[in-house]
Amino acid sequence: MQLAMINDEMLPLDKLDSAYLDRGLYFGDGVYEVVRSYDSRIFALDEHLARFANSLAGIEINDVNIEQIRKKVTAAFETAKIHNARIYFHVTRGSAPRDHNWDDHIKPNFFLTITELPDFAGLKQKGIAVLTCPDLRWKKCWIKSLNLLPNILARHAAAAKGCDEAILVDDTGLITEGSGSSFFAVSGRTLRTAPLTANILPSITRGYAIKAAENLSLQVIEKSLTPDDAKNADELFLTVTTKDIIPVIKFDDKIIGNSQPGTFTQNLITEFLKFTRTNTKT
Ligand code: PDD
Repeated sequence: MQLAMINDEMLPLDKLDSAYLDRGLYFGDGVYEVVRSYDSRIFALDEHLARFANSLAGIEINDVNIEQIRKKVTAAFETAKIHNARIYFHVTRGSAPRDHNWDDHIKPNFFLTITELPDFAGLKQKGIAVLTCPDLRWKKCWIKSLNLLPNILARHAAAAKGCDEAILVDDTGLITEGSGSSFFAVSGRTLRTAPLTANILPSITRGYAIKAAENLSLQVIEKSLTPDDAKNADELFLTVTTKDIIPVIKFDDKIIGNSQPGTFTQNLITEFLKFTRTNTKT
């Protein structure tokens, strides 16, 4: 008889929950978003949904109504009643017997969780250490796909060395981004980060950090850095939805800015938080 086994339990295949046949599980065949709220206001939802739509199109999942996704996210958020929430959601191509190819009529699966965001205030005051790792990802990192093996293996290698993030370096020796964040360097009054033409995710917080820098009259240069450029910078920081701006005070073996978060970085954190009150880049 056709059967399945989950850990030590065997069961007839026709009794198996279809969630186990999800292409997201078999192939990472899906895309995701992580959104957060600040004091009960979801931040930058329009931008996240626009990127989500691009990611869906990027892997040819075509019949998902983005306004339906918005409705699901906001309904779940209103039900959860969590002031500072992390909202994770993904859409996979759907559930079907394992086959690399798919039937165009397959029905996508939607999944979401809403959890309390930990308090990262301490991390932002202290700053973090990062470790460079080879960037072994595919060539379409603009798609926020569930295929995160290179990202998680790099993050785990960084954690094994007591670092909080892995900074990915491509095979030309240029920094692309963090395993789960965007990467920035401040030198003098110049802010540098990789351009969107690099193989990176079009990060939502990256855009807000750039706007915050312009508001502080920093010159923004979207040009990829080498690890040496980073080590010689006055300040380094990361941006990511769940932590907005996080100072970096150690880059591989180099202490950055006498191991204190930089002044511009702290001012950028303050400037960034203004956006979260109005949900606009003004
Ligand atoms: N990571 N680069 C990568 C590879 C990312 O995975 C992320 C986000 C970012 C920052 O993007 P944004 O500013 O839109 O959060 C940059 C999410 C949070 C995650 O995988 O948990």
